[in-house]
Amino acid sequence: MIDINKLNEVIAAMELDSDQLKEIAQAYRQDMVRGLKGEEDSTLQMLNSYIGLPSGDEQGYYLALDLGGTNVRVLLIRLDGGSRYEEVKKLVRPLVTEEYNLINKESSPEKLFGFIADMIAEAVEGLDTEKIYLGHAFSFGSKQENIYNARLIKWSKEFAVPGVEGQVVNDLLKKALAEKGITNVEPNSVINDTVAILLAAAYERPDTTIGMIYATGYNACYIESYGGLKTPEIINMESGGFAKLMRTEYDARLDAMSQTPGSQQLEKMISGRYMGELITLIFNDVLPEGKHFDKVMTSIDISAMLSDDDAYTKTKSIIKEKAGFDACDFGASSLRRLAEAVSVRSARLAAAALAGAIWQVAGTGKIRPQHVAIDGSVYAYMPGVKENLLKALYEILGEDAANIMPVLVSGGCGLGAAIAAAIAE
Ligand code: BGC
Repeated sequence: MIDINKLNEVIAAMELDSDQLKEIAQAYRQDMVRGLKGEEDSTLQMLNSYIGLPSGDEQGYYLALDLGGTNVRVLLIRLDGGSRYEEVKKLVRPLVTEEYNLINKESSPEKLFGFIADMIAEAVEGLDTEKIYLGHAFSFGSKQENIYNARLIKWSKEFAVPGVEGQVVNDLLKKALAEKGITNVEPNSVINDTVAILLAAAYERPDTTIGMIYATGYNACYIESYGGLKTPEIINMESGGFAKLMRTEYDARLDAMSQTPGSQQLEKMISGRYMGELITLIFNDVLPEGKHFDKVMTSIDISAMLSDDDAYTKTKSIIKEKAGFDACDFGASSLRRLAEAVSVRSARLAAAALAGAIWQVAGTGKIRPQHVAIDGSVYAYMPGVKENLLKALYEILGEDAANIMPVLVSGGCGLGAAIAAAIAE
């Protein structure tokens, strides 16, 4: 029999009431303020992006590289101004297949960026220009000195390619381009993916203030106005690093087993890369002797369970495939309950962090009507996540939440990177 008491305890520990959400949102805002001042006890890095919001009039052909998740994308984009644009070409390739793995410890900067350079060569094939600028959406915490120069601080999302941490990623890309004899492509900017989707959304809706990625990884950025004392600038918060949270023993175990113990604590509780692992870890602990998930469940499995029928058809087939036994209704419903608890907690924590950022945007003033750009598979496809996030936002902000208009900017990363290249030019 499943240890149902233990399971219930874990599920209860994952529930966050409105007061707890408000406390988390306040702690998050406090870390934002401290992080901006460079204070050490903040768990938010608050990284400068060296870029503000676009005018919407940016024009021209640009290349965009989107590196940061399961797939790498290279796009050729024409910005037409007046908030209009067209994707002229788009190449999408996985970074991990059964034949190769470009992101693990056995990979190298040459392999990873060489692969990307080949895609770039394909994207510009037949293009008759002396020079085309490339905007690079590089979705890992990086320390920037200007719009071109970003050094990777630390890999996340289980990327582990040696020889990239501490390096200027655009220099690695340039080297790979030169080695392939690609002379007409010039990387001129690098931005985080959250910044990219904020730029993409603001190109069309100038009142957009926050960009959030809620996918394999999790993070958000916002436009900091510095109280009018400095030029507004987008700040990449590296929200996934927020660590002033109550973790369950399983969150701590998952963290300890990961490539980067101790870092990205919030991300490991809520993002698509980890939610499946978390339910696998917990469920294995409550299953009776002899029953075990040998294969790790994924966030796609969670989505399937959350949209299951009353006979738990999908949940049972996941159990069969990954643990090798035929589950009864009780077993399947228990797993589904756990999946729901993890996904609801994820959405509520994301809302708390978002509320913290909304307060910071408002400063000492009111929360004004504004758009919040969100991209990512968890937000877009995991059943209930959108609704739970919005509900939690109302619990924290009250009626002011009505001023927050989330927009789903699917695939906005490429557009944002092209806009960054245009601004940098
Ligand atoms: C990275 C962020 C990124 C997020 C979403 C995190 O793991 O640290 O820089 O924005 O994933 O892709």
